[in-house]
Amino acid sequence: MKTFTLNNGDRWKGIGLGTWKSKPGEVEKAVYEALKCGYRHIDCAFIYMNQKEIGNAFKKAFNEGIVKREELWVTSKLWNNSHKKEHVIPALKKTLNDLQLNYLDLYLIHWPIAFKNEFINATKPEHYVSLNEVPIAKTWEGMEDTKDLGLAKHIGVSNFSIKKLDALYQKAQKFKPEVNQIELHPFLQQQNLWDYCKSKNILVTAYSPLGSGDRSDYIKSENEPSLLQNKTILEIATKYNSTPGQILIAWHLNRGNLVIPKSTNTARIKENFNAKDIIIGQEDMETIKTLNQNFRYVKSKIFTIPGNGYTNIYDE
Ligand code: A2P
Repeated sequence: MKTFTLNNGDRWKGIGLGTWKSKPGEVEKAVYEALKCGYRHIDCAFIYMNQKEIGNAFKKAFNEGIVKREELWVTSKLWNNSHKKEHVIPALKKTLNDLQLNYLDLYLIHWPIAFKNEFINATKPEHYVSLNEVPIAKTWEGMEDTKDLGLAKHIGVSNFSIKKLDALYQKAQKFKPEVNQIELHPFLQQQNLWDYCKSKNILVTAYSPLGSGDRSDYIKSENEPSLLQNKTILEIATKYNSTPGQILIAWHLNRGNLVIPKSTNTARIKENFNAKDIIIGQEDMETIKTLNQNFRYVKSKIFTIPGNGYTNIYDE
Protein backbone atom coordinates (compact mmCIF):
# COMPACT_ATOMS: atom_id res chain seq x y z
CA MET A 1 0.00 0.00 0.00
CA LYS A 2 1.30 3.42 -0.92
CA THR A 3 1.99 5.44 2.22
CA PHE A 4 2.39 9.18 2.67
CA THR A 5 4.92 10.72 5.02
CA LEU A 6 4.19 13.78 7.10
CA ASN A 7 6.67 16.46 8.10
CA ASN A 8 7.51 14.77 11.41
CA GLY A 9 8.06 11.39 9.72
CA ASP A 10 4.67 9.86 10.62
CA ARG A 11 3.42 7.53 7.94
CA TRP A 12 -0.15 7.36 6.64
CA LYS A 13 -1.71 4.63 4.48
CA GLY A 14 -3.13 5.91 1.20
CA ILE A 15 -6.49 4.09 1.27
CA GLY A 16 -8.78 4.85 4.19
CA LEU A 17 -12.34 3.81 4.94
CA GLY A 18 -14.77 6.70 4.48
CA THR A 19 -17.68 6.83 6.94
CA TRP A 20 -19.78 9.72 5.61
CA LYS A 21 -23.30 8.34 5.01
CA SER A 22 -22.53 5.11 6.88
CA LYS A 23 -25.57 4.47 9.01
CA PRO A 24 -24.99 4.12 12.77
CA GLY A 25 -26.47 0.60 12.62
CA GLU A 26 -24.02 -0.48 9.90
CA VAL A 27 -20.82 1.42 10.56
CA GLU A 28 -19.60 -0.58 13.56
CA LYS A 29 -19.49 -3.78 11.55
CA ALA A 30 -18.03 -1.96 8.54
CA VAL A 31 -15.13 -0.48 10.51
CA TYR A 32 -14.50 -3.76 12.32
CA GLU A 33 -14.46 -5.70 9.02
CA ALA A 34 -12.22 -3.05 7.46
CA LEU A 35 -9.71 -3.34 10.28
CA LYS A 36 -9.81 -7.14 10.00
CA CYS A 37 -9.08 -6.99 6.29
CA GLY A 38 -6.12 -4.64 6.75
CA TYR A 39 -7.34 -1.01 6.63
CA ARG A 40 -5.28 1.14 8.99
CA HIS A 41 -6.81 4.51 8.13
CA ILE A 42 -10.38 5.46 9.07
CA ASP A 43 -11.93 8.80 8.18
CA CYS A 44 -14.59 10.17 10.53
CA ALA A 45 -16.38 13.42 11.38
CA PHE A 46 -18.63 14.71 14.14
CA ILE A 47 -21.40 15.51 11.66
CA TYR A 48 -21.58 11.96 10.30
CA MET A 49 -23.38 11.17 13.58
CA ASN A 50 -21.86 7.71 13.87
CA GLN A 51 -18.66 8.19 15.87
CA LYS A 52 -19.93 6.29 18.94
CA GLU A 53 -20.47 3.19 16.83
CA ILE A 54 -17.04 3.62 15.22
CA GLY A 55 -15.58 3.90 18.73
CA ASN A 56 -17.17 0.53 19.60
CA ALA A 57 -15.51 -1.03 16.56
CA PHE A 58 -12.11 0.39 17.55
CA LYS A 59 -12.50 -0.94 21.08
CA LYS A 60 -13.44 -4.40 19.85
CA ALA A 61 -10.55 -4.49 17.38
CA PHE A 62 -8.05 -3.32 20.03
CA ASN A 63 -9.36 -5.84 22.58
CA GLU A 64 -9.13 -8.68 20.08
CA GLY A 65 -5.58 -7.72 19.10
CA ILE A 66 -6.56 -7.06 15.46
CA VAL A 67 -4.78 -3.71 15.53
CA LYS A 68 -2.91 -1.59 18.05
CA ARG A 69 -3.79 2.08 18.49
CA GLU A 70 -0.37 3.18 17.25
CA GLU A 71 -0.83 1.21 14.02
CA LEU A 72 -4.08 2.99 13.22
CA TRP A 73 -4.64 6.42 11.65
CA VAL A 74 -7.87 8.13 12.70
CA THR A 75 -9.02 11.41 11.16
CA SER A 76 -11.97 13.45 12.40
CA LYS A 77 -13.33 16.92 11.69
CA LEU A 78 -14.41 20.02 13.55
CA TRP A 79 -18.02 20.87 12.78
CA ASN A 80 -19.15 24.31 11.59
CA ASN A 81 -20.81 25.23 14.89
CA SER A 82 -17.54 24.97 16.83
CA HIS A 83 -15.34 27.44 14.95
CA LYS A 84 -14.90 29.85 17.84
CA LYS A 85 -11.47 29.28 19.34
CA GLU A 86 -12.90 28.38 22.75
CA HIS A 87 -15.15 25.71 21.19
CA VAL A 88 -12.43 23.75 19.38
CA ILE A 89 -11.00 21.76 22.27
CA PRO A 90 -14.41 20.87 23.79
CA ALA A 91 -15.55 19.71 20.32
CA LEU A 92 -12.48 17.54 19.91
CA LYS A 93 -12.88 16.09 23.41
CA LYS A 94 -16.45 15.07 22.59
CA THR A 95 -15.20 13.37 19.41
CA LEU A 96 -12.43 11.58 21.32
CA ASN A 97 -14.92 10.44 23.92
CA ASP A 98 -17.24 9.05 21.23
CA LEU A 99 -14.39 7.33 19.39
CA GLN A 100 -12.99 6.01 22.73
CA LEU A 101 -9.55 7.38 21.87
CA ASN A 102 -7.00 9.56 23.68
CA TYR A 103 -5.82 11.33 20.56
CA LEU A 104 -6.57 11.73 16.86
CA ASP A 105 -3.95 11.35 14.18
CA LEU A 106 -5.53 14.18 12.25
CA TYR A 107 -8.11 16.86 13.02
CA LEU A 108 -9.52 18.94 10.17
CA ILE A 109 -11.64 22.09 9.96
CA HIS A 110 -14.52 20.46 8.07
CA TRP A 111 -15.71 23.52 6.07
CA PRO A 112 -14.73 27.17 5.74
CA ILE A 113 -18.20 27.98 7.07
CA ALA A 114 -19.31 28.97 10.58
CA PHE A 115 -22.62 28.36 12.36
CA LYS A 116 -23.73 29.68 15.72
CA ASN A 117 -22.76 27.19 18.40
CA GLU A 118 -26.35 26.21 19.23
CA PHE A 119 -27.12 25.04 15.67
CA ILE A 120 -25.71 21.75 14.41
CA ASN A 121 -27.85 22.15 11.30
CA ALA A 122 -28.17 25.69 9.98
CA THR A 123 -31.46 26.03 8.15
CA LYS A 124 -31.94 29.82 8.33
CA PRO A 125 -29.62 32.71 7.47
CA GLU A 126 -29.50 33.76 11.12
CA HIS A 127 -28.03 30.38 12.10
CA TYR A 128 -24.83 31.30 10.24
CA VAL A 129 -21.95 33.50 11.40
CA SER A 130 -19.69 35.28 8.93
CA LEU A 131 -16.00 34.50 8.62
CA ASN A 132 -15.34 38.14 9.51
CA GLU A 133 -16.92 37.49 12.87
CA VAL A 134 -15.27 34.11 13.37
CA PRO A 135 -12.13 34.21 11.23
CA ILE A 136 -10.55 30.95 10.10
CA ALA A 137 -7.22 32.18 11.49
CA LYS A 138 -8.76 32.26 14.98
CA THR A 139 -10.28 28.80 14.58
CA TRP A 140 -6.81 27.70 13.51
CA GLU A 141 -5.33 28.92 16.79
CA GLY A 142 -7.74 26.52 18.51
CA MET A 143 -6.58 23.77 16.16
CA GLU A 144 -2.95 24.57 17.05
CA ASP A 145 -3.87 24.21 20.71
CA THR A 146 -5.17 20.67 20.06
CA LYS A 147 -1.76 19.77 18.68
CA ASP A 148 0.07 21.43 21.56
CA LEU A 149 -2.01 19.40 24.01
CA GLY A 150 -1.32 16.15 22.14
CA LEU A 151 -5.03 15.66 21.40
CA ALA A 152 -4.36 15.72 17.65
CA LYS A 153 -1.04 14.74 16.11
CA HIS A 154 -1.66 16.62 12.87
CA ILE A 155 -4.05 19.39 11.85
CA GLY A 156 -5.48 20.49 8.54
CA VAL A 157 -8.56 21.59 6.65
CA SER A 158 -11.22 20.29 4.31
CA ASN A 159 -13.06 21.90 1.39
CA PHE A 160 -10.60 24.80 1.20
CA SER A 161 -9.93 26.58 -2.12
CA ILE A 162 -6.44 27.82 -3.03
CA LYS A 163 -7.52 31.30 -1.96
CA LYS A 164 -8.68 30.24 1.49
CA LEU A 165 -5.90 27.73 2.05
CA ASP A 166 -3.19 30.19 1.05
CA ALA A 167 -4.65 32.90 3.31
CA LEU A 168 -4.52 30.44 6.20
CA TYR A 169 -1.07 29.18 5.23
CA GLN A 170 0.30 32.73 5.31
CA LYS A 171 -1.34 33.54 8.65
CA ALA A 172 -0.71 30.27 10.50
CA GLN A 173 1.85 31.10 13.15
CA LYS A 174 2.70 27.92 14.96
CA PHE A 175 1.76 25.06 12.67
CA LYS A 176 0.95 25.13 8.96
CA PRO A 177 -2.02 23.07 7.66
CA GLU A 178 -0.70 19.66 6.66
CA VAL A 179 -3.75 18.28 4.82
CA ASN A 180 -6.63 19.46 2.63
CA GLN A 181 -9.46 16.94 2.19
CA ILE A 182 -11.47 17.74 -0.94
CA GLU A 183 -13.84 16.20 -3.46
CA LEU A 184 -11.63 14.61 -6.10
CA HIS A 185 -12.22 12.08 -8.88
CA PRO A 186 -11.69 11.87 -12.66
CA PHE A 187 -14.63 14.25 -13.30
CA LEU A 188 -13.24 16.82 -10.80
CA GLN A 189 -9.46 16.69 -10.92
CA GLN A 190 -8.76 20.14 -9.40
CA GLN A 191 -5.27 20.22 -10.86
CA ASN A 192 -4.50 23.80 -9.73
CA LEU A 193 -5.52 23.14 -6.14
CA TRP A 194 -3.67 19.81 -6.23
CA ASP A 195 -0.51 21.55 -7.51
CA TYR A 196 -0.81 24.32 -4.93
CA CYS A 197 -1.03 21.74 -2.12
CA LYS A 198 1.94 19.84 -3.49
CA SER A 199 3.99 23.06 -3.64
CA LYS A 200 3.31 23.70 0.05
CA ASN A 201 3.81 20.10 1.17
CA ILE A 202 0.11 19.82 2.04
CA LEU A 203 -1.22 16.29 1.56
CA VAL A 204 -4.47 15.89 -0.37
CA THR A 205 -7.18 13.38 0.56
CA ALA A 206 -9.95 12.66 -1.96
CA TYR A 207 -13.54 12.28 -0.80
CA SER A 208 -16.43 11.04 -2.94
CA PRO A 209 -13.98 9.04 -5.09
CA LEU A 210 -16.80 6.80 -6.36
CA GLY A 211 -19.31 9.61 -6.87
CA SER A 212 -21.11 9.16 -3.54
CA GLY A 213 -24.22 7.67 -5.11
CA ASP A 214 -25.74 7.23 -1.64
CA ARG A 215 -26.02 11.00 -0.96
CA SER A 216 -29.40 12.32 0.16
CA ASP A 217 -31.55 13.72 -2.60
CA TYR A 218 -31.04 17.33 -1.50
CA ILE A 219 -27.31 17.00 -2.28
CA LYS A 220 -28.04 15.48 -5.69
CA SER A 221 -28.66 17.19 -9.03
CA GLU A 222 -30.52 15.98 -12.06
CA ASN A 223 -28.63 14.04 -14.74
CA GLU A 224 -25.42 13.58 -12.78
CA PRO A 225 -22.72 11.69 -14.70
CA SER A 226 -21.78 8.29 -13.27
CA LEU A 227 -18.13 7.54 -12.50
CA LEU A 228 -18.78 3.86 -11.89
CA GLN A 229 -20.53 3.47 -15.25
CA ASN A 230 -18.21 5.67 -17.28
CA LYS A 231 -17.23 3.88 -20.51
CA THR A 232 -13.53 4.74 -20.25
CA ILE A 233 -13.34 3.64 -16.61
CA LEU A 234 -15.13 0.38 -17.50
CA GLU A 235 -12.68 -0.28 -20.35
CA ILE A 236 -9.66 0.38 -18.17
CA ALA A 237 -11.14 -1.84 -15.44
CA THR A 238 -11.45 -4.71 -17.92
CA LYS A 239 -7.87 -4.14 -19.10
CA TYR A 240 -6.54 -4.41 -15.52
CA ASN A 241 -8.81 -7.30 -14.64
CA SER A 242 -10.32 -5.18 -11.89
CA THR A 243 -13.57 -3.39 -11.10
CA PRO A 244 -14.49 0.23 -11.93
CA GLY A 245 -14.42 1.05 -8.22
CA GLN A 246 -10.89 -0.29 -7.94
CA ILE A 247 -9.68 1.77 -10.91
CA LEU A 248 -11.28 4.91 -9.44
CA ILE A 249 -9.47 4.26 -6.14
CA ALA A 250 -6.14 3.22 -7.67
CA TRP A 251 -6.12 6.38 -9.81
CA HIS A 252 -5.57 8.46 -6.64
CA LEU A 253 -2.65 6.43 -5.34
CA ASN A 254 -1.08 6.51 -8.79
CA ARG A 255 -1.60 10.27 -8.99
CA GLY A 256 -0.12 10.83 -5.53
CA ASN A 257 -2.93 11.57 -3.08
CA LEU A 258 -4.86 9.71 -0.40
CA VAL A 259 -8.38 8.41 -0.93
CA ILE A 260 -11.27 7.41 1.36
CA PRO A 261 -13.91 5.28 -0.42
CA LYS A 262 -16.98 4.66 1.73
CA SER A 263 -18.59 1.26 1.99
CA THR A 264 -20.58 -0.63 4.58
CA ASN A 265 -20.63 -3.80 2.49
CA THR A 266 -17.96 -6.32 3.52
CA ALA A 267 -17.27 -7.54 -0.02
CA ARG A 268 -16.88 -4.00 -1.37
CA ILE A 269 -14.77 -2.97 1.64
CA LYS A 270 -12.33 -5.74 0.65
CA GLU A 271 -12.62 -4.98 -3.05
CA ASN A 272 -11.74 -1.34 -2.46
CA PHE A 273 -8.77 -2.22 -0.24
CA ASN A 274 -7.39 -4.50 -2.95
CA ALA A 275 -7.10 -1.52 -5.30
CA LYS A 276 -3.84 -0.86 -3.43
CA ASP A 277 -1.89 -3.14 -5.74
CA ILE A 278 -3.06 -1.72 -9.09
CA ILE A 279 -0.42 0.19 -11.01
CA ILE A 280 -2.12 2.16 -13.78
CA GLY A 281 0.16 2.70 -16.79
CA GLN A 282 1.09 6.22 -17.89
CA GLU A 283 -0.99 6.02 -21.04
CA ASP A 284 -4.11 5.06 -19.11
CA MET A 285 -3.44 7.81 -16.55
CA GLU A 286 -3.35 10.24 -19.48
CA THR A 287 -6.65 8.84 -20.77
CA ILE A 288 -8.27 9.28 -17.35
CA LYS A 289 -6.96 12.86 -17.31
CA THR A 290 -9.15 13.63 -20.31
CA LEU A 291 -12.30 12.76 -18.30
CA ASN A 292 -12.10 15.96 -16.26
CA GLN A 293 -15.24 18.07 -16.59
CA ASN A 294 -15.03 20.14 -13.37
CA PHE A 295 -18.11 18.30 -12.15
CA ARG A 296 -18.89 18.41 -8.43
CA TYR A 297 -21.23 15.95 -6.73
CA VAL A 298 -21.21 18.00 -3.51
CA LYS A 299 -22.36 21.40 -4.71
CA SER A 300 -21.86 24.55 -2.67
CA LYS A 301 -25.64 25.10 -2.82
CA ILE A 302 -26.00 22.85 0.22
CA PHE A 303 -24.80 25.79 2.34
CA THR A 304 -26.29 28.56 0.25
CA ILE A 305 -29.34 30.21 1.78
CA PRO A 306 -30.12 33.70 0.47
CA GLY A 307 -28.85 36.16 3.04
CA ASN A 308 -26.53 33.84 4.95
CA GLY A 309 -23.41 35.45 3.46
CA TYR A 310 -21.99 32.25 1.95
CA THR A 311 -22.34 32.27 -1.82
CA ASN A 312 -19.16 30.89 -3.35
CA ILE A 313 -17.65 28.48 -0.88
CA TYR A 314 -15.26 26.89 -3.37
CA ASP A 315 -14.18 30.27 -4.85
CA GLU A 316 -14.96 29.20 -8.39
P1 A2P B 1 -21.98 0.50 -0.16
O1 A2P B 1 -21.70 1.25 1.11
O2 A2P B 1 -23.27 -0.25 -0.13
O3 A2P B 1 -20.82 -0.34 -0.61
P2 A2P B 1 -18.12 7.42 -2.13
O4 A2P B 1 -16.97 6.71 -1.51
O5 A2P B 1 -17.74 8.15 -3.38
O6 A2P B 1 -18.85 8.31 -1.15
O7 A2P B 1 -19.17 6.34 -2.64
C1 A2P B 1 -19.89 5.53 -1.73
C2 A2P B 1 -20.98 4.79 -2.49
O8 A2P B 1 -20.38 3.85 -3.39
C3 A2P B 1 -21.87 3.99 -1.59
O9 A2P B 1 -23.17 3.97 -2.14
C4 A2P B 1 -21.24 2.61 -1.62
O10 A2P B 1 -22.21 1.61 -1.34
C5 A2P B 1 -20.78 2.52 -3.05
N1 A2P B 1 -19.59 1.67 -3.25
C6 A2P B 1 -18.54 1.50 -2.40
N2 A2P B 1 -17.61 0.71 -2.95
C7 A2P B 1 -18.05 0.37 -4.18
C8 A2P B 1 -17.53 -0.41 -5.24
N3 A2P B 1 -16.35 -1.00 -5.14
N4 A2P B 1 -18.30 -0.55 -6.37
C9 A2P B 1 -19.49 0.06 -6.47
N5 A2P B 1 -20.04 0.83 -5.51
C10 A2P B 1 -19.32 0.99 -4.37
